Amino acid sequence: MKAIIAIGIITLCLISGQVLCFRLIGCSGGSVMFKCMNSNQNKSYDHYKGRFFCRNRDCTTGINTEIQHRWDYNGRFALYDDENSRFFTVFIRNLSREDDGTYTCGNNQKWSHDVTLVVNRTSSSCGTSVIRSANISQTITIHCKYDHGFKKHTKVFYSLNIDPVIVLNSSQSSQSSEEKFILSDSHKDHFNVTIRNISTADDGVYLCGVERDQSDKKPSQTSITHITFIKEISLNVYGQITSVQVEAYISKSVFIKCKFPQKFKGNKKFIQKDSSEKIPVDEQNKWVFHGKFHMFDDTSEGLLKVFISDLTAADEATYRCGVNIAENHLFTEIKLTVSQVDHFFASSKSSAVVGESVKLSCSYPEKHNETKHICKENNEKICQIISSSEKQRFEFSDSAAGVFTVIISNVRLTDAGVYWCGAETRHKHLTSVSLTNKHQLTLTMPPVIRREGDSAEIKCPYNANHSKVVQHLCKGKCFNNDAENIIQSDEDHVKKTKISVKNDTELNLFTVTITDLRAEDAGKYWCAVKNVFNLSIDLMIIMKDGITHEASVGGSVSISCKYRNQNQSVFCRGDQPNICVRDGVRVSSDNSINGRFSLTDQTSAGVFTVNISNLTEEDSGKYWCGEEHSGSFIFTEVHLHVNREMTSSDSKNEDHQQKEKSDFPVIAVVSVGLILLALVIVLILFKLKHNKHDTISSDRRESRDHEMAQEESQDSHPESNPLYSTVQLPTNPSDGLLYAAVSFQKHEESPSEATVRFSKDETHCDYASVITAE
Ligand SMILES: *[C@@H]1O[C@H](CO)[C@@H](O)[C@H](O)[C@H]1NC(C)=O
Ligand SMILES: *[C@@H]1O[C@H](CO)[C@@H](O)[C@H](O)[C@H]1NC(C)=O
Ligand SMILES: *[C@@H]1O[C@H](CO)[C@@H](O)[C@H](O)[C@H]1NC(C)=O
Ligand SMILES: *[C@@H]1O[C@H](CO)[C@@H](O)[C@H](O)[C@H]1NC(C)=O
Ligand SMILES: *[C@@H]1O[C@H](CO)[C@@H](O)[C@H](O)[C@H]1NC(C)=O
Ligand SMILES: *[C@@H]1O[C@H](CO)[C@@H](O)[C@H](O)[C@H]1NC(C)=O
Ligand SMILES: *[C@@H]1O[C@H](CO)[C@@H](O)[C@H](O)[C@H]1NC(C)=O
Ligand SMILES: *[C@@H]1O[C@H](CO)[C@@H](O)[C@H](O)[C@H]1NC(C)=O
Ligand SMILES: *[C@@H]1O[C@H](CO)[C@@H](O)[C@H](O)[C@H]1NC(C)=O
Ligand SMILES: *[C@@H]1O[C@H](CO)[C@@H](O)[C@H](O)[C@H]1NC(C)=O
Ligand SMILES: *[C@@H]1O[C@H](CO)[C@@H](O)[C@H](O)[C@H]1NC(C)=O
Ligand SMILES: *[C@@H]1O[C@H](CO)[C@@H](O)[C@H](O)[C@H]1NC(C)=O
Repeated sequence: MKAIIAIGIITLCLISGQVLCFRLIGCSGGSVMFKCMNSNQNKSYDHYKGRFFCRNRDCTTGINTEIQHRWDYNGRFALYDDENSRFFTVFIRNLSREDDGTYTCGNNQKWSHDVTLVVNRTSSSCGTSVIRSANISQTITIHCKYDHGFKKHTKVFYSLNIDPVIVLNSSQSSQSSEEKFILSDSHKDHFNVTIRNISTADDGVYLCGVERDQSDKKPSQTSITHITFIKEISLNVYGQITSVQVEAYISKSVFIKCKFPQKFKGNKKFIQKDSSEKIPVDEQNKWVFHGKFHMFDDTSEGLLKVFISDLTAADEATYRCGVNIAENHLFTEIKLTVSQVDHFFASSKSSAVVGESVKLSCSYPEKHNETKHICKENNEKICQIISSSEKQRFEFSDSAAGVFTVIISNVRLTDAGVYWCGAETRHKHLTSVSLTNKHQLTLTMPPVIRREGDSAEIKCPYNANHSKVVQHLCKGKCFNNDAENIIQSDEDHVKKTKISVKNDTELNLFTVTITDLRAEDAGKYWCAVKNVFNLSIDLMIIMKDGITHEASVGGSVSISCKYRNQNQSVFCRGDQPNICVRDGVRVSSDNSINGRFSLTDQTSAGVFTVNISNLTEEDSGKYWCGEEHSGSFIFTEVHLHVNREMTSSDSKNEDHQQKEKSDFPVIAVVSVGLILLALVIVLILFKLKHNKHDTISSDRRESRDHEMAQEESQDSHPESNPLYSTVQLPTNPSDGLLYAAVSFQKHEESPSEATVRFSKDETHCDYASVITAE
């Protein structure tokens, strides 16, 4: 303690008979607090904002503020202005001999007073400071010694935890022994303040003071007083902040966040399991790894994050996550239970299509229903919170007791990875997430489905970071031995006749066009950037030649499909082949019987046969034979017509027309279409009759039809074009001319318009367009 003795200066400040000045007495190392009164009775002066307590004109020592209703600080000087009062409060901490002198306090415009600050060491008991420690829930007593001259004065006890606030004063009436703070004055030379049931919130700085006026006598009712603080106490609270039960599960993970008081946020943290050695968190603001623990000391938030994965029964223990403070420490106790629960979902692998959404289901212990949580593993396999901007694409919903779902919409390239979900439990000083479900999310681009002979654009998006790096397109996984390199961005593609390349560095898109598609082109393509990025796209090919079958109600039909390589075969019903393979009624070489459907592989003959028994009229429609080729497919379109028993060719046609009609989403359009079509057919028939030498090869017709189909399906997403359909009109096989394609396509720009096109060989008179209003 410094022994600085300053001699008081007595200033007389009598202006027209009124004492307009104050004398403050403090001690070196101590603090003072006083109220600067407006002794000028003209209240309207108080409307001016701006109060000050300054040593000199420029106020380099002191404080000048316009802030009201809260403490404003300038170093050791603080000022509180309550605009409704006729005074404001000034607090000066850690006085020194240099502070001794004359100051002015007042309202900036109209009034001011001189204030003399005397920094004196009235006795050895003034201006002392101590550091005290206490463990949580303890009771401590603080002793404050004063000069016996103050024995009759009011004693005060202030807390500085945020701003100076009075906790107790000795002239307050009855103090119950139940109170948290108890002040007892010996009225001789000391007073004691007892603080009971210490908590972390009690951590901080306290001041003991006496109320006095300018003399050593007890202030009278009318005297202007100030408070001389004689002792400063720094109270450090240690020990157990809280004890929390955390439930986790075998082979799952748990994420725990321990929160510490702000003032310790920079201190070193630790983890301790039962009574074993403390594991120090050596580095701050980065993940560190020790045994099973991944730890992150977040000094900006005052948090210690702990992640433990692959839990086993041996991880069940009582842990402490704590902060080191000198030789003491402050910690939270975690009672971790690790139990075996079988009813959680097994870890899943989901594949999401870029741009679409994907649903993840999570099961969790029902009693933990506070907050649902999902996180994504980073490179170090630590499951981290998803950033709040990304979180908008994550929609949570409860689907059943103990089950919730998360839908990730508009899936992005960066969404690939491993997710964990579970329930989060929050306490004041600890948040824990028991992660119970693992989801591996892989991404693919939407499949590209094209007909044999067409061309296909394969779009490889990559992230901006990779724009300067060579992009690869491979058939099969790039850099694997069995992968076939198609093209890479730094390669001259001119040599490759089937391939052209577009490089959009602004959209970060590398587009490869493959022309003249063959069955062999079907397969899984991979876009890759070095070893850091890969993304697959399925190219599916529809063979030029379709199959048509006729059968009767009640009978059965055998459909034989060729296959090239002895791959997995599949047969399904639906308009879109890729969708029917996934979601439709299907049989495959793996699953060869499904109700009335059965599939037989005849590998030696290079065919597989599908039998459908007990046919009904409803079985008429479109089917697909598919051959899987490394995850992708080669399709053959199959049309099945199931006719009623009494098969006259007329009634057959009628049936078909009705059947087809009912398949259309826009019946009205179809009706109009069919009428127009009939007209067109009549016209054609008429024309053909008068042009007997017009020999159009059926091949040419067919390829024209396929061109149409290709035109319609390009760029339209296979799952989102309900208005697309190909109609095969009732044909009389002997008359090979009655074939036409009708396609409906929604215009993207004007969704209320649908165009119906009729196409017919190269003659140019058979094109019509119908606009429908919805
Ligand atoms: C108070 O001050 C205002 C503004 O200066 C003045 O107009 C008014 O006369 C004063 N009133 C008294 C009672 O002095
Ligand atoms: C008080 O002021 C002295 C210098 O006058 C300084 O050395 C000391 O650190 C200050 N103490 C506090 C608690 O601010
Ligand atoms: C300073 O302290 C001494 C010793 O207690 C005392 O005699 C003297 O009156 C004090 N000065 C003032 C101005 O209070
Ligand atoms: C707080 O508790 C620890 C043991 O938990 C003990 O070593 C220490 O002395 C205690 N501190 C105080 C101020 O009682
Ligand atoms: C002490 O408390 C009493 C009663 O609440 C109050 O009237 C008095 O102004 C207080 N004194 C000080 C110095 O705060
Ligand atoms: C203050 O505490 C001390 C030590 O515990 C005790 O001896 C003294 O009597 C207490 N004084 C009062 C006024 O309670
Ligand atoms: C001590 O304080 C805590 C809150 O900080 C409270 O929950 C507890 O009941 C208190 N204990 C006693 C004995 O007052
Ligand atoms: C949690 O479950 C309990 C019992 O099933 C229920 O009463 C409570 O409302 C649920 N809380 C939330 C936040 O869903
Ligand atoms: C790009 O690289 C920077 C620095 O390596 C990284 O922080 C950022 O996440 C990367 N962006 C993407 C989309 O991967
Ligand atoms: C595509 O763009 C990248 C980055 O500008 C460049 O390195 C690459 O050579 C380009 N490839 C082609 C085929 O233009
Ligand atoms: C490439 O893709 C596979 C399968 O989708 C995935 O497991 C792997 O981590 C990916 N590699 C990189 C570097 O992204
Ligand atoms: C076909 O129908 C017959 C008679 O209605 C029935 O016995 C048989 O089980 C059916 N077969 C299949 C595969 O549904």
